[in-house]
Amino acid sequence: MVIAIIAAMDKNGVIGKDGVLPWCILEEMEFFTDSTMGHIVLMGRKTYESLKIKPLPGRISIVVSSDTSYKVAEGVLLFNDLEQAEAMAEEIAQAAGMAVFVIGGRELFEEYLPKADLLYLTQIEASFEGDTKFPVYNPEEWAVIVSERRSSSVGIDFSTSISVRKRP
Ligand SMILES: NC(=O)c1ccc[n+]([C@@H]2O[C@H](COP(=O)([O-])OP(=O)(O)OC[C@H]3O[C@@H](n4cnc5c(N)ncnc54)[C@H](OP(=O)(O)O)[C@@H]3O)[C@@H](O)[C@H]2O)c1
Repeated sequence: MVIAIIAAMDKNGVIGKDGVLPWCILEEMEFFTDSTMGHIVLMGRKTYESLKIKPLPGRISIVVSSDTSYKVAEGVLLFNDLEQAEAMAEEIAQAAGMAVFVIGGRELFEEYLPKADLLYLTQIEASFEGDTKFPVYNPEEWAVIVSERRSSSVGIDFSTSISVRKRP
């Protein structure tokens, strides 16, 4: 199973504010949609709550929460245990030839940074106020395979990259 992390951050590593994204950049969302479409998206409960459309169309949504009475929208798979969530993701991924995208938030990124195979990062060339940052990670552990600079209709430039974990 291929596990990919996908995240967008500002110049200072900010990824969230008050439970949502600090920015609204259509072109950045398009990169997220294009990358994850047709795959499995694994997320924490807070990221799930931040989504405007639940489940994300065209993807299999898996959510983790420790709250056993937590209710999710029809079509969303909820697990109280991350290992069980990952086992289900693996089963579906193998059967359907899909990848698993860990889409956040910080807690899930922290959990999967040591074991993800691919890292899809969007670096926004601006600073935003926020309360949640991408975890500290070592870029030396990753080899960039694709990188692209992009501009947006709101005048904020950003770059996207896809990196693969360096294996010894
Ligand atoms: N810029 C980006 O790329 C990006 C991407 C995603 C999210 N975000 C932002 O990041 C912020 C949310 O991140 P966050 O770190 O606060 O929250 P999060 O990772 O989205 O969700 C955390 C919650 O997930 C559940 N959880 C985590 N690990 C678990 C485990 N091992 N077993 C069971 N449940 C588990 C818990 O839910 P319970 O409390 O219900 O137990 C926990 O409180 C928001 O502002 C969001 O907009 C940004």
